[in-house]
Amino acid sequence: MEQLYELFGTDRVEEFRAKLDELKNVPGSMISILNEAQEIFGYVPFEVQELISRETGVPLTEIFGIVTFYSRFSIIPAGKYKISLCLGTACYVKGSGQILEKLEEKLGIKEGNTTSDGMFSLSAARCLGACALAPVMMINGEVYGRLTPDSAVKVIEKIKQQDLSQAASEVE
Ligand code: FES
Repeated sequence: MEQLYELFGTDRVEEFRAKLDELKNVPGSMISILNEAQEIFGYVPFEVQELISRETGVPLTEIFGIVTFYSRFSIIPAGKYKISLCLGTACYVKGSGQILEKLEEKLGIKEGNTTSDGMFSLSAARCLGACALAPVMMINGEVYGRLTPDSAVKVIEKIKQQDLSQAASEVE
């Protein structure tokens, strides 16, 4: 428990505990509890799964099974830049599969993961609601359309550069 406070700070842990207390005796509320955890912590850490298990009496293995089954839950922290690449039909027919391959190669991770420096996480989406701009990806809410594998990589490189220069100017 202490570890949880150290990792996430009192406010977030208390906020989650309050939600958990509210929901833990409601039948069929496990998904809602996990949604709250995902929302508050940005992922569902192992320590939080343990807490849920202790409070609800649901075995840890069962909770782990649910978290890993649904793509909306993640067991790893999201990156600073969250890339969501659309693999919906309109984007897929225009080559988003190749863009995914290229991004995975560039970032050195598979879809559903976060780079080891915590900068980028890469996930696939079904439709981002911008089919006219297919193929599309979204990074922290910003839409990038009519992509090619190379232009998608350029977007990533530009973000990296901007992030570096922003960090440098903060140090100055
Ligand atoms: S299918 Fe990609 S935005 Fe709709």
